Amino acid sequence: MPGKMARSDPRPSVRVTRGVGSGQHLASVLQEGRENANIDAGLGFIWRISVHCSKCKVCLMELWQATLRRETIARPAAVKHPLATDDWRLRMTVLDDTSFRNRLTVTDVVRLARTIYSDAHGGIKYKQILRPYVCPFHILVDLIPLEANILDVGCGAGLFILVLARLGRIQSAVGFDADQLAIQVAQGAAQKLPKSERIRFEHRDAAEIWPAGRFDVVCLIDVMHHLRPEQQAELLMTAAEHVADNGILLYKDMARRPHWRAWANRLHDLLSVGEWIYYAKLDDVISWGRRKGLRVDRTGSIDMLWYRHEWCILRRWNEKT
Ligand SMILES: C[S@@+](CC[C@H](N)C(=O)[O-])C[C@H]1O[C@@H](n2cnc3c(N)ncnc32)[C@H](O)[C@@H]1O
Repeated sequence: MPGKMARSDPRPSVRVTRGVGSGQHLASVLQEGRENANIDAGLGFIWRISVHCSKCKVCLMELWQATLRRETIARPAAVKHPLATDDWRLRMTVLDDTSFRNRLTVTDVVRLARTIYSDAHGGIKYKQILRPYVCPFHILVDLIPLEANILDVGCGAGLFILVLARLGRIQSAVGFDADQLAIQVAQGAAQKLPKSERIRFEHRDAAEIWPAGRFDVVCLIDVMHHLRPEQQAELLMTAAEHVADNGILLYKDMARRPHWRAWANRLHDLLSVGEWIYYAKLDDVISWGRRKGLRVDRTGSIDMLWYRHEWCILRRWNEKT
């Protein structure tokens, strides 16, 4: 929406040139050697980013939101940089931790979890209800495009899929986990969904054969640190192979830094499941994804209690679209 200068991003070379309904929903463009990125925004979403390229000083690249949905910025609508290979891609970083589309809070997710697992019993039920306090599902939900077909690897009791399904956000989903009890709980909870035939939970280990096909979204949420370092690259690359064209791999795990937070989390796993965990470097995750043709779309992190979470979205860009 046209309007007056809204505010400037503290980082150099990024200017917000038009008004926004709500300043808290600004995103920033992390420019890699570019100048004059203008962000046109309105009604709380960004609808165009224009970039005057600093390399050739000629081309104007425009990236458009495909729809009013706040999703990853679409492919450039205008000229492709004559010198660039794929470096026209900008990385979007959300500046705040509010959930945009659903504007969920942690408490909303806890409420959903209570409903989802109302018929479950035992410790696993309460683990799911408490999990949104320590895992940022309220943010991850909005990283998932609408109507997606999802594969959730190491889905536990299916909380993420079931929350998305309850919100009516996904077309279909498959979740699998090595923990049989967790899968039984997920299956029981899924039966209560109106379109339960579209949601499937399977008991299997990531080292075995994976569900067939490729998916709009493949999720790896807090699974990586359970694998030994020598198994991690393979897990990530197998997940990447299951990402469809223009699809994403959503990777979320516990951060390795600062040390005290990483140790607090390590202690959590030692005390709760008696397990020694292995942090993966986000840079390694990104480079394993690159080997399978995925590129970083965006990254983020958030602290919840004493835990630090980091995530990235790796995308398989389809050059034809
Ligand atoms: C911290 S839980 C996260 C569960 C779920 N992703 C969530 O965020 O609620 C980690 C899960 O990874 C699963 N897991 C660990 N190693 C696995 C493997 N090799 N294959 C399948 N699942 C695995 C565990 O059984 C556990 O349910």
